[in-house]
Amino acid sequence: MAFSNILTYWYLQNKRELPWRKSRNPYFIWLSEVMLQQTRVAQGLSYYLKFTTTFPTVFDLAKADESTVLKMWQGLGYYSRARNLHAAAKHIAYELNGEFPSSYLEIIKLKGIGDYTASAIASICFDEPTAVVDGNVFRVLSRYFGIHTSTNSSAGIKEFKALAQSLIDVTQPGNFNQAIMDFGALHCKPQNPLCESCPFADSCVAFEKKLTKVLPLKNKKIKVKKRYFNFLVIQTVDDKTILSERKGNGIWQGLYQFPLIETTQNISGEALISKEEFISLFPEKVSISLFNKKEIVHKLSHQHLYTQFWIVRPKTAFDANIDWADVENYPVPVLIANFLKDFKAKTN
Ligand code: ADE
Repeated sequence: MAFSNILTYWYLQNKRELPWRKSRNPYFIWLSEVMLQQTRVAQGLSYYLKFTTTFPTVFDLAKADESTVLKMWQGLGYYSRARNLHAAAKHIAYELNGEFPSSYLEIIKLKGIGDYTASAIASICFDEPTAVVDGNVFRVLSRYFGIHTSTNSSAGIKEFKALAQSLIDVTQPGNFNQAIMDFGALHCKPQNPLCESCPFADSCVAFEKKLTKVLPLKNKKIKVKKRYFNFLVIQTVDDKTILSERKGNGIWQGLYQFPLIETTQNISGEALISKEEFISLFPEKVSISLFNKKEIVHKLSHQHLYTQFWIVRPKTAFDANIDWADVENYPVPVLIANFLKDFKAKTN
């Protein structure tokens, strides 16, 4: 039997009775889908009922105060979703005369609506065969077809979307989409999927090859660390500066840099000169000025360096030992080389 037939047969017998499934009103479906992106069905239910009781139509939502909408959203998190919901409700009420757009291409133009929500509304309310792809869909399809493409890569998203689109039952796309999501949530679960009683057991690749624990695959996201660098570009009265070699085994090992004060966030000049590290370098009062008015963000694979170059001009003699004329002979990181180019252009 075809994939979609097995799936819709399963759905007929197992579908969840949910309040929004009693309706094809796009306003209700929209609310439910936006809420279900934030939370599981069990928790989303009470928010859905609260919203639809307080705002039974898109006009009621449109004319509400933003603070009332946000208050009702409290606990769901990600408040920009609530703000977008409110803005789109105003647009529908006041610009579209309360008429909800009725095609995927029109729906996706609404604020805060992306491919998933537009596909869900277009299929459930308007019978348009637009496949949804959410975490449940990734799981069901990657296991059934034995697909090893990462679901959080752009190639993966494209591949799974195209596959879901090729499988969708065009005679009942809304049911197909909800069936595959329910099947993922209730049967083909992330942990302990019910393979022994699965209607797909005969043909599921992951079941046959014992891959249900492996699939779906996800790329590990590299956590990017933010660092805040303050380089002290010293310019003495006799045109000297300080550069020192970076030790250790970091990426800049062996390269030269200006004295560096690392902070936990962007820092003002006033805060910088009162730091102990600064005072130990310059015990006497010294004037400093920020060279780059906007911080320079230097992106490395695992860290982003938010960088400020401070020009420091000590009034009296200072034991800097490198002639500015020699600076360009030192190997420096690209970040500093770029600064030197700009600095030279501005000071010459
Ligand atoms: N998760 C989000 N929307 C859903 C829907 N319409 N049916 C089942 N699960 C869902």
